[in-house]
Parts: sequence; structure tokens; C-alpha cells
Amino acid sequence: MSAIQARVIGLIVSAVVIFGSGVWLTSAGRPYAIALQTVHKLTALAAVIVSGVTVYQAMRIGVLPTAESIVVWVAAVLVIASFASGGAVSASDAEPTWVLWLHRVAPWFAGVLTAVSVYFTAGRA
Ligand code: HEM
Repeated sequence: MSAIQARVIGLIVSAVVIFGSGVWLTSAGRPYAIALQTVHKLTALAAVIVSGVTVYQAMRIGVLPTAESIVVWVAAVLVIASFASGGAVSASDAEPTWVLWLHRVAPWFAGVLTAVSVYFTAGRA
């Protein structure tokens, strides 16, 4: 198995863990289970780093057409929004409702566009 295949399989497994634990957190409600929340955020952190490195390596050498670059940038904004809203939701009991809804909606679009971005860039660097 090549390094890039291992990376992509790791990201797929991480996505299952992140989205599975996220939906579980939402359906179980507050107070959030510490262990579940820790698994959720640490897996998200690892996946953001690995997908960020994968995409950045290809972006740096400028192999992406403009349309694909736009998808990558929109994905990056959505990932930042997902991370920031997740942090706010878990740190506070009284965050504005829109922040909670941002974290219930943005991650799904971030996940799809990050998968597309990795598809565009994996193996190109
Ligand atoms: C890119 C990073 C992240 C992704 C993709 C992600 C994904 C998700 C998803 C899909 C859900 C379920 C939403 C739904 O039911 O539709 C969720 C819920 C949740 N996430 Fe994240 N998450 C991320 C980062 C974080 C971080 C960094 C934290 C905490 C520091 C966090 C804390 C939570 C909490 C507390 C919930 C439950 C919210 C609720 O009550 O509905 N997430 N996350």
C-alpha cells in the first residue's frame, strides 16, 4: 500500500469516527460525555492536519486549476468554521443558537468538500 493510499484510508476511518461521534453527541445532548467529546475533537484535529498537509503539498507546487483551488479554499473556510463552532459549543453552555446550528450544518459541507479537495490533490505533489 502506498503512503497516499494509507493516508486516504486513515481519513475515511477518521470521517466515520468524527461524524458518528458527532451525531451521537447531538442525539445524547448535554452534558456531553467527556470521553466521546474527546474522541470527536482529537480525531477531528488529526484529520484536519492530515488532509491539510495532503492538500497543501499539491497547492504549494501550483498544480491545481483555478476551479479546483476555489473548492479547496471554500473547504478550508468550512473546516475553520466547523472547528471554531465545535470549540464554542463544547466550551459554553450558553452559546448563541446560530453557533450550535453552524456546528450542526457546516461540518457536513466541510466533510464533502474536504473529500473532494483530497481527491483533487492526493498523489499530485
Ligand atoms: C472539522 C472538525 C469537526 C467536524 C467535521 C465535526 C463534526 C460534527 C458533526 C457532524 C456533528 C453532529 C451534527 C449533527 O448532528 O448534524 C458534531 C457535533 C458536535 N461536535 Fe463536532 N466536529 C468538528 C470539530 C469539533 C470540535 C473541535 C469540537 C469540540 C472542541 C466539537 C464538538 C462537538 C459537539 C459538542 C457536538 C454536539 C453538538 C450538539 O449538541 O448538536 N466538534 N460535530
